[in-house]
Amino acid sequence: MPVLVVNVDHVATLRQARMGSEPEPITAAHLAEMGGAQGIIVHLREDRRHIQDRDLSLLKATLTANLHLEMAATDEMHRIALEVQPHMICLVPEKREELTTEGGLQCMGREDFLRSYLAPFKARNIYTSLFIDAEPEQIQAAASAGADYIEIHTGHYADARDHPARQAELEKIISGIKQAGSLGLRVNLGHGLNYQNILAFSGVKSICEFSIGHSIISRAVMVGIKEAVAQMNEIIRSFSP
Ligand code: PXP
Repeated sequence: MPVLVVNVDHVATLRQARMGSEPEPITAAHLAEMGGAQGIIVHLREDRRHIQDRDLSLLKATLTANLHLEMAATDEMHRIALEVQPHMICLVPEKREELTTEGGLQCMGREDFLRSYLAPFKARNIYTSLFIDAEPEQIQAAASAGADYIEIHTGHYADARDHPARQAELEKIISGIKQAGSLGLRVNLGHGLNYQNILAFSGVKSICEFSIGHSIISRAVMVGIKEAVAQMNEIIRSFSP
């Protein structure tokens, strides 16, 4: 049975819009855990546009669910991740100008670098994952680099413009899952998954985790707005004339 890992970056995005203290991503993570998330994932970006260093330490100190850290393969992140010791690290490509992670990591030709980058984590029993496109060469390279997991990038599937294109992307992902399994890699899926497009993966075997952020946080805003307005209205109605 695959499990759900919830990404709370966008709660932090909203907080950083005012550089204030709410909404608190730590509270959101705990509520996600209460809702059944088996893991919480955050991306500590080089530019700290959403998640901050203190968020990571607080999550590590307070969560019962597994903490996953998405990060670029830099020296700074290597140091921070070894200090925090999450349950799993997931290496992603990172560009300053991008709105979100745009594609998979280039593993082919970088196997030696990745193997030595991952080695200290493996030595400390921290699971390692590489976020990659469902390309046979990248999957082979991820296995050669010694990763425990790959996270297959589902963004191209989610963004496909029509049914045939979506179906082609889905087939690529499914054959990537099979190839990864034959190489001893465990497989997570993530990016752009929502309440509709995830249904295509029902019945697909050997998926360990779904990593989902934007659609869950977006839905949370919508299902919570009625109650939030009612609470403010109640305060205003309690004012004496
Ligand atoms: N997995 C990875 C590697 C990501 O970079 C992201 C986005 O931060 C996600 C999963 C979650 O994607 P989404 O927010 O579209 O659900």
